[in-house]
Amino acid sequence: MSDHSAAIEDFLLERRTFPPPRAFRDAAAVSDRSLYEAADADWEGFWAAQARELVDWYEPWTSVCEWDLPFATWFAGAKLNVSYNCLDRHVEAGQGDRVAFFWEGEPGDRRVITYSDLLDEVCRFANVLKGLGVERGDRVAIYMPMIPELPVAMLACARIGAPHSIVFGGFSSEALAGRIQDARAEVLVTADGGWRRGTISGLKPNADAACAECPTIRHVVVVRRTGQEVAMVDGRDLWWHDLMGGAATECAPERMDSEDLLYLLYTSGTTAKPKGIMHTTGGYLTQIAFTHKYVFDLKAESDVYWCAADIGWVTGHSYIVYGPLANGATGVMYEGTPDFPDRDRWWEIIERYRVSILYTAPTAIRTFMKWGSELPAKHDLSSLRLLGSVGEPINPEAWVWYHENIGGGRCPVVDTWWQTETGSILISPLPGVTTLKPGSATFPLPGVGAEVVDDHGNRVEKGGGYLCLTRPWPAMLRGIYGDPERYRQTYWSRFEGRYFAGDGAKVDDDGYLWLLGRVDDVMNVSGHRISTTEVESALVDHPAVAEAAVVGAQDPTTGQAIVAYVTLKASEVASEERGEELRTHVASVIGPIARPRTVIFTDELPKTRSGKIMRRLLADVANGRSLGDTTTLADPSVVEEIRSRASGGSADEE
Ligand code: WTA
Repeated sequence: MSDHSAAIEDFLLERRTFPPPRAFRDAAAVSDRSLYEAADADWEGFWAAQARELVDWYEPWTSVCEWDLPFATWFAGAKLNVSYNCLDRHVEAGQGDRVAFFWEGEPGDRRVITYSDLLDEVCRFANVLKGLGVERGDRVAIYMPMIPELPVAMLACARIGAPHSIVFGGFSSEALAGRIQDARAEVLVTADGGWRRGTISGLKPNADAACAECPTIRHVVVVRRTGQEVAMVDGRDLWWHDLMGGAATECAPERMDSEDLLYLLYTSGTTAKPKGIMHTTGGYLTQIAFTHKYVFDLKAESDVYWCAADIGWVTGHSYIVYGPLANGATGVMYEGTPDFPDRDRWWEIIERYRVSILYTAPTAIRTFMKWGSELPAKHDLSSLRLLGSVGEPINPEAWVWYHENIGGGRCPVVDTWWQTETGSILISPLPGVTTLKPGSATFPLPGVGAEVVDDHGNRVEKGGGYLCLTRPWPAMLRGIYGDPERYRQTYWSRFEGRYFAGDGAKVDDDGYLWLLGRVDDVMNVSGHRISTTEVESALVDHPAVAEAAVVGAQDPTTGQAIVAYVTLKASEVASEERGEELRTHVASVIGPIARPRTVIFTDELPKTRSGKIMRRLLADVANGRSLGDTTTLADPSVVEEIRSRASGGSADEE
């Protein structure tokens, strides 16, 4: 155990290691340290080389990186177009018939969209936008389900140089209105609705409610997806299919500056006003093309790649749309939930399209663990060769379950750490190079500077602390829209000269990085600063447990005490004995200090819509405070249930 004053202490020890399988390494795009060495020798030169190799430019840059902390300019003066890079150049190279997306709607309808098809549609929609008066630099808001028209709309914006601002289709009209107002968007692209778990989620009524608060909106373009009756405002609202029918299929891409705004994406803070994260053109495209190619070891001619996120999040922006298309990949896109019509929908999709790379989130993996390994076992998943994880720390047991039950024990699992703000994966294994440890995101990628520091900003060589980034990177955010001071304050003020991501991390004996969750969640038990992630991983390590969330509750003796919310696997039954067993299990895995005071069993945990556990809310429940804002919950009834259990005395209290 590390000393008492450590920023965050380091308790959990995971010893399993997985070197790259021989066959994987032999066929991998990179299987030695050459990329790391090149980047270490000259990181600017390294990024310039990647930019030349992976991206087509109309005009070269005059400098690679200009750094006036915290404002970066990458590839100054260079000109390019993202939609050209994602579409035209592949078609020009004779790859027009390659599939860009195998799309599958939740009800079972399917579309196969080639690069030529996509280019055609993108040009037409670009002309539609121009026809509606959208000019270079104007912001376009997008509020859509996971249908092909969504990437079409994004790429059309990129083609004419109009930054998009996508608002996740599950957000409320208030959330949409706030984001439209902040961006002062003039056009909104939406749909009548989308399919979710067999029912229609109506988007147009929300869009109407939002637009009532948004005088900047001149036009609303509506895709007909679900077909129910929707109100159309005369003069303002237009059907996608009417406009597209008359649009020309040629539209010259704008020559954009490397630093022109490509998109805004608002991060959904639960308390403060959402931040409009700004991503620009040249550096962003370079780094996501690079990471998509090397982290996923992409073989564009043969892989079928499925990132199962929603395009409304950054993961979808970077790794469903821009990265994969820039690399000419074939992707899968699925509209609905994993349990419709049955809980094996994903495995059926993988079997049908022979998916070879799957990228998803720990929350999904733990849900599948809960549902049981019989479901994937019913399907032929032998096409898979690589698995990825993003969004939260992945508990070692969930990693191992994924590796065995989905990957058949043969697929490397890349645990990728990054954020909306970073734009691109920054910490991750390279699957042909790195020996994996379940639960560790391993090392910074080539070209990335990251380190763990203590409260005073001193580098931690071993043990826990705060994860910082030490130098600019091409896909980094360029700021918060309209608020440069908040940008400096939020990310660049805690540790001088460094970007602080808000995450805790530890470094092990071999220099591997382990993400420990948000530092706001760290618990202080008898003066020990214990990460939620480690205690949760110890709980998930128990064979009966699928998922767990722990929080600190006030305690007269220890300051804070650990309260654990636990979801058991489908076949297991909650009982007092089980609770006692879990408490003992944690104490034996990481030490008596981490023994939960209370274990509360629950069928679901409260999560944000992107699947992250909402510990703040659970802490409110545990501390008997009134509940905070629950509007970003996946299912608000979950909290009610947790609250009633917590106060109903069924908790396993000491
Ligand atoms: C967390 C998602 C541990 C982290 C791309 C980060 C992770 C936040 C990982 C960003 C990972 C993401 N291991 N934690 N592999 N990936 N996170 O903006 O707390 O939705 O700061 O971006 O998710 O979430 P965001």
